[in-house]
Amino acid sequence: MRWLVTGGLGFIGSNFIRLALHERPSLEVVNLDAMTYAGNPANLRDIEAEPRYRFVQGDICDPAAVAHAIGDGVDAIVNFAAETHVDRSILDPEAFLRTDILGTHVLLEAVRERSVPRYLQVSTDEVYGDVSEGESTENDPLRPRSPYSASKAGGDLQVLAYRATYGTPVLITRGSNTYGPYQYPEKLIPLFVTNLLDGQQVPVYGDGLQIRDWLHVQDHARGIMHVLECGEVGHVYNIGGGNPWTNIDITRSLVESCGRSMDTHVRYVIDRPGHDRRYAVDTTKARALGWAPRKDFAQGLLETIAWYRDNESWWRPLKSGEFLDYYKRQYAHR
Ligand code: TYD
Repeated sequence: MRWLVTGGLGFIGSNFIRLALHERPSLEVVNLDAMTYAGNPANLRDIEAEPRYRFVQGDICDPAAVAHAIGDGVDAIVNFAAETHVDRSILDPEAFLRTDILGTHVLLEAVRERSVPRYLQVSTDEVYGDVSEGESTENDPLRPRSPYSASKAGGDLQVLAYRATYGTPVLITRGSNTYGPYQYPEKLIPLFVTNLLDGQQVPVYGDGLQIRDWLHVQDHARGIMHVLECGEVGHVYNIGGGNPWTNIDITRSLVESCGRSMDTHVRYVIDRPGHDRRYAVDTTKARALGWAPRKDFAQGLLETIAWYRDNESWWRPLKSGEFLDYYKRQYAHR
């Protein structure tokens, strides 16, 4: 068995590769990653020397790079490669359209040409848009409201169109907000934890009452692997943690766990434009396949704080250079 994983130097992709190599002793993994700002070789330092692992630097938008990574054939492609941060998509949408839509198209063409037996698109619950009540099921209409989620929805629609038109053996997973080790510190949890460890303030958007459903990265990676191996081709599977928390409750928990105070360390800032209030997914379909999340959120949050505390040498270099320019652009005038 050989799988091509794209974007495997990112947060969820690197956790997925580590899990897959560990759980499947005869599996080989080829990792095609463009090494953008969020693709970090340090995320997989511990398996670099593993003979069943091969790294190829390249962009999924480049058909030659994809062909090179496929080499003499793969049994599956799992596409994690994406621009993922909503706030960056508001500042610079084009990169999102390119990687998340065009890149998906290039991979689908490769699957078709090389008759790859399985293609899994890693997507997001954000494609459903704001869900004021209830839970999104896989057949619900897509109502994305940010350049990021619209790009991911465009990718999903390409994938489903290839199924209908060419019979391409595709699967889609739509994960909820993911947290855990190796997450680039622009996202809520790692940004806030690293700021708090440094004694800095954390910027809460608007009233902080937005709700996200939190999923530990190990549970997410296991869910993707389960759908890849057991899912029904042509189907979409929601993967959610079942942990709906408001941003302000998470903030309070992080502030207290880091020994800081809400009065001095929280700064309320102007809300994100088009900010979705709530996401929630129905995970009945993935559970019927035999997957379920295992990690308790309060416990997972404490473990995640401990990981960032113990791995300062991983995140400290990331919060410099380009990140500081981005941080200023994003937060200085709010
Ligand atoms: P984020 O981690 O960016 O994920 P997403 O927007 O894809 O859900 O944000 C999670 C929530 O936290 C979201 O409601 C926006 C909010 N948030 C803040 O309040 N302040 C911040 O600095 C960031 C990055 C996010």
